[in-house]
Amino acid sequence: MKFTTPATTNPIDRLKVVGKPTDRIDGPLKTTGTAPYAYEQHKAAPDAAYGYVVGAAIAKGRIAAIDTAAAKAAPGVLAVVTHENAGKLGKGDKNTVRLLAGPEVQHYHQAVAVIVAETFEQARAAAALLKVEYAKQAGVYDLEAAKNAAKKPDEKDKPDTKVGSFDSAYASAPVKFDGTYTTPDQSHAMMEPHASIAVWNGDKLTLYTSNQMINWGKKDLAKTLGIPEQNVRLVSPYVGGGFGGKLFLRAEALMAALGARAAGRPVKVTLQRAIMINNTTHRPATIQRIRIGATREGRITAIAHESWSGDQPGGQPETAVMQTRLLYAGQHRMTRMRLATLDLPEGNSMRAPGEAPGLMALEIAIDEMAEKLKMDPVTFRIVNDTTVDPEKPGRKFSQRRFVDCMRMGAERFGWNKRNPVPGQVRDGRWLVGIGVASAFRNNIVTPSAARVRLGRDGRITVETDMTDIGTGSYTIIAQTAAEMMGVPLERVDVRLGDSAYPVSSGSGGQWGGNSSTAGVYAACVKLREAVAKKLGLDPAGADFADGQVRAGGKAVALQDAARDAEVVGEDKMEYGDLDKKFQQSTFGAHFVEVGVDAATGEIRVRRMLAVCAAGRILNPKSARSQVIGAMTMGVGAALMEDLVVDKRIGFFVNHDLAGYEVPVHADIPHQEVVFLDETDPISSPMKAKGVGELGICGVAAAVANAIYNATGVRVRDYPVTLDKLLPKLPPLRSA
Ligand code: MOS
Repeated sequence: MKFTTPATTNPIDRLKVVGKPTDRIDGPLKTTGTAPYAYEQHKAAPDAAYGYVVGAAIAKGRIAAIDTAAAKAAPGVLAVVTHENAGKLGKGDKNTVRLLAGPEVQHYHQAVAVIVAETFEQARAAAALLKVEYAKQAGVYDLEAAKNAAKKPDEKDKPDTKVGSFDSAYASAPVKFDGTYTTPDQSHAMMEPHASIAVWNGDKLTLYTSNQMINWGKKDLAKTLGIPEQNVRLVSPYVGGGFGGKLFLRAEALMAALGARAAGRPVKVTLQRAIMINNTTHRPATIQRIRIGATREGRITAIAHESWSGDQPGGQPETAVMQTRLLYAGQHRMTRMRLATLDLPEGNSMRAPGEAPGLMALEIAIDEMAEKLKMDPVTFRIVNDTTVDPEKPGRKFSQRRFVDCMRMGAERFGWNKRNPVPGQVRDGRWLVGIGVASAFRNNIVTPSAARVRLGRDGRITVETDMTDIGTGSYTIIAQTAAEMMGVPLERVDVRLGDSAYPVSSGSGGQWGGNSSTAGVYAACVKLREAVAKKLGLDPAGADFADGQVRAGGKAVALQDAARDAEVVGEDKMEYGDLDKKFQQSTFGAHFVEVGVDAATGEIRVRRMLAVCAAGRILNPKSARSQVIGAMTMGVGAALMEDLVVDKRIGFFVNHDLAGYEVPVHADIPHQEVVFLDETDPISSPMKAKGVGELGICGVAAAVANAIYNATGVRVRDYPVTLDKLLPKLPPLRSA
C-alpha cells in the first residue's frame, strides 16, 4: 500500500482498542524474568560455548604481533580468533570502523580477538594470556584542539544552510546575543549489554542477538562475513534497551559468528561492560556557537547556529543544528556543521541524535536572549513561532501545536509564579528556580511490512521483524491488529524481531511506533479483503467488529473464514512525497523546577512537566513511559552524563556504570506528561507520530535554565555539576 494522500476516516479511528492505555502485553514476561534476552536463549543453543572479547589496548596504531599459544593451551579453550585466522572480512554499510581490528587499530577497545572456551571463566582467564604487541601511533583525541582543522562534511549530511543575509541582519540588530556551549560525549548505557549467540548449521548462520534494526544487522553481518544474505537469520525478540547503541551490527555479533565457526559449536558472546563503552558507539561531543539578533520587541531577525563535532575518518557529524532550521521564525539565518577527524571510538546515533544535544545549546541561548530582551522566556518563544518551514517559506508543517504546548505547560506548571530575577527564591537551604525549554524532534516515516494470519482457532497472529526495545511495540501492534480485525486484544498474538518475518521499519529515530503499525495496518487491509472474499462479502463495505464481519445486511463470524484453512494478509506500507510537501515534526514544552543547596551547590530536580504534541497517541500508557524515560535521560544529560576523554591515551576513562553516572530513582521526582489531543493525517493512516525521542529534546536546557533561575549562575558546559556552580553561588545568608 502506498500512502500518497492525507489519511481519511478508517477503522483505526474507532479507537475501541487503539488509543487505550493498555498494559504492555510483554509486561508479565519482563517482570517475571522469563522473557529470553539474547544471552539467555539457552533453548536455542544448550551446548553453547563462551566467547570473551579482547579489546585493543591502544587507540591508534598497528598490531605488530599476536602470540596465541598460551591462550590456546589454557584449560577449556576451544578456539582463538584474531585477524590472522578470521579469514577475509568485509565491512557492513552501517559501520564506520571494522568490528575486528588488525593489523590496523582504529580505536581503543576495538576487538582484537575472541577467545572461545567451555566456560566464561575459562575464556576470560585465557584472554589474560593472549600476548598482543602494538606499534602505537599518535592520534587526535581533543575536539577543542581539532576544531580549527574541522572540515565541511559530505553534502549528503546537509552541513550548511543559509537564508537571506545573516551577517548584515545580525550586525544591525538592536539586541544581540552570542554564546558558545559544549556538550560532552555520552554513552547509551542501556541495561542489557550487546549480546549474541551464533549457531551455524552448515553454511547457514542463526544469530540470537539484541538489535534494533533486524534487516540492517542481517545485511551487514552477511556482508562482513562474505556470505549470501539468505544464509543469515537474526532473532531478537526482546531487547533490554538500545537508545541507538543497537541500531547497527556490533563486534559481539561478528565475534560470536567467527568464534562459533572456529570452534564448531554455538558460541555466546556479550560485550563485558568494561569494554562496551569504548568498543561500541557513543553520542559525540559538540561545541556549538549560537548568535541571535532581534528587534527590541523580541522578534528574531537573525539566527545562526554552528556546531563542531568529531568522528572517525568516514564518519558523520552530530547534526546538532537541525532544530534551528525549523523551530523559530527569523528572516536571516544560517546553520553550519563542521566535522573534525578524531581517533576516539566511533560516534553515532543516541536518542534524538542532533536535536538532543542541539537543543541543549539552543534552548539556553533562547533563555539568555529573552533575558537580554527583558522578556518572559515563554513569551519570547511564542512570539517567534512560525507556521511554515522558515528555510522554505512555501512549505507548511503537517501539524504544529508548539504554542499550545507552551501555553498549556505554563498554565499547569504555575509559570506565572516564577520570579524572573534569579537567586531570589529560598526554601530552607534550597535556592529554588524554574526553567522552560522547547521540545522539537522531526517525525520520519519509513517503509514497513507485516504479515497477519487469521488462524483456524480464530486467533490473529502478526509477524514482522519489528523490534520492541522496551518501547511497547508488541502492545501497539496488537492494538492495531485488534482494531483493524474487530477482535479483542486477547485474540491477537504478535511475533517480532525475526528476520524470517517481513521487513519492518525497525526501531530508531522515533519512527518505529507510527511506521511499524502502519505496516500492520496495510497487512490487515489485505487480510480483510481475503476474509471478505472467502465469506462471499463485498470487502469495500465490510465492517469488522465484535468478532464479526458485516456486509450487505449479513453478519458472519470472522472465524468462519478460516474454518478450513488459515487466511493470510501481507503487505508493506510505503510512502509517497507527503513528507516532502509538508514538514512533519513533533513538538513539546518542558518545565522543570530545581533546588540548589545554597551552601554545597547540590542540585535536585523537584518537579518536571512535559507537554507533547505528537499526533495520535496509540497507547497513552506506553507513550507516557517513553516520555518519562526520555525526561529522565534528559536529567542525566543535564547533570551527570560525561564520557571523560583521556586526551593522552585516547579513550573514555569512565567506561563502566560505576564511573558513567546516570540518574537513579532517587534523582527523579514526580514527572507529569500531557499529550495534546491531536491526529496528524499526513503521517500515515495511523495519524500517529513518534514520542520516544521528543521526550528528551530540550529537557537538559530546561534544567540548566531552572538552575540559572535558582542561582544566577549560567553554566554553558554540560553536565552542570556543582563544581561549576560553587565558585559563583550567591553569598550565604541565613535561610
Ligand atoms: Mo535512535 S538514536 O535512532 O535508536
